[in-house]
Amino acid sequence: MKFTDSPEIELPVRNSLLSIQQDNGSFHVGTSVWPCSLVLVKFADRWAPPTPTPTPTPTPTPSNNNNPYSDLLDFRGKRAVELGAGCGAAGMGFHLLGLTDLVLTDIAPVMPALKRNLKRNKTVLAKTLKHSILYWNNPDQIKSLNPPFHYVIATDVVYIEETVRPLVSTMESLMADDGVVLLGYQLRSPEADKLFWELCQTVFDIEKVPHQDLHPDYAYEEADVYVLRKKKKEGS
Ligand SMILES: C[S@@+](CC[C@H](N)C(=O)[O-])C[C@H]1O[C@@H](n2cnc3c(N)ncnc32)[C@H](O)[C@@H]1O
Repeated sequence: MKFTDSPEIELPVRNSLLSIQQDNGSFHVGTSVWPCSLVLVKFADRWAPPTPTPTPTPTPTPSNNNNPYSDLLDFRGKRAVELGAGCGAAGMGFHLLGLTDLVLTDIAPVMPALKRNLKRNKTVLAKTLKHSILYWNNPDQIKSLNPPFHYVIATDVVYIEETVRPLVSTMESLMADDGVVLLGYQLRSPEADKLFWELCQTVFDIEKVPHQDLHPDYAYEEADVYVLRKKKKEGS
């Protein structure tokens, strides 16, 4: 697993290389790059269908039967939001994989680290990605993002019990009925873990990606990728 606590993390995605600066000594956990972000991006890098080059009359791409994730990771025409983006590794990685309509969010004190990394990678990303302050469960901030989103991306965000309920509620509020949460997960607090999965079971269908489907160079025993989908309402 290529994870390091050095001040600079390099993350190859497709034919590009992201360079992410982290500050492990800061007061905020969001100024470090957490390993589940790399695990999630490299899982998607392994399976996301190639981004088609735009043509005047786009032809539909048939789904690839050898790829169990070709539909899940078909980013064309989809909107996404990342929660607790931190230094932006996951969001920037997904942008390079073709998820270009994407807004990265976090709390105000983490914004300088996020903005610094977006600027640092501007050439590779070909633009500055959208970013916004979002404290989980703040109704005005949620509304101003203009949901629904097809993808809600979140990595290593379950670690404080008190924030779990607002987190799950924010995921639910932001995602479309047919949307998905792409979650990079590692157990950080037993109390937060217990409450998170209890709440998720009430609102989401939960799918865990088998470990053998993760990227072999970016996988380790404790890290998992989950796909969460809203439970179908009675009668729909
Ligand atoms: C452990 S860090 C993970 C950062 C990044 N996702 C990664 O994997 O590198 C958790 C992130 O969640 C954010 N966060 C924690 N509580 C939050 C809240 N109530 N509202 C919004 N973001 C929050 C933190 O600021 C931090 O950036």
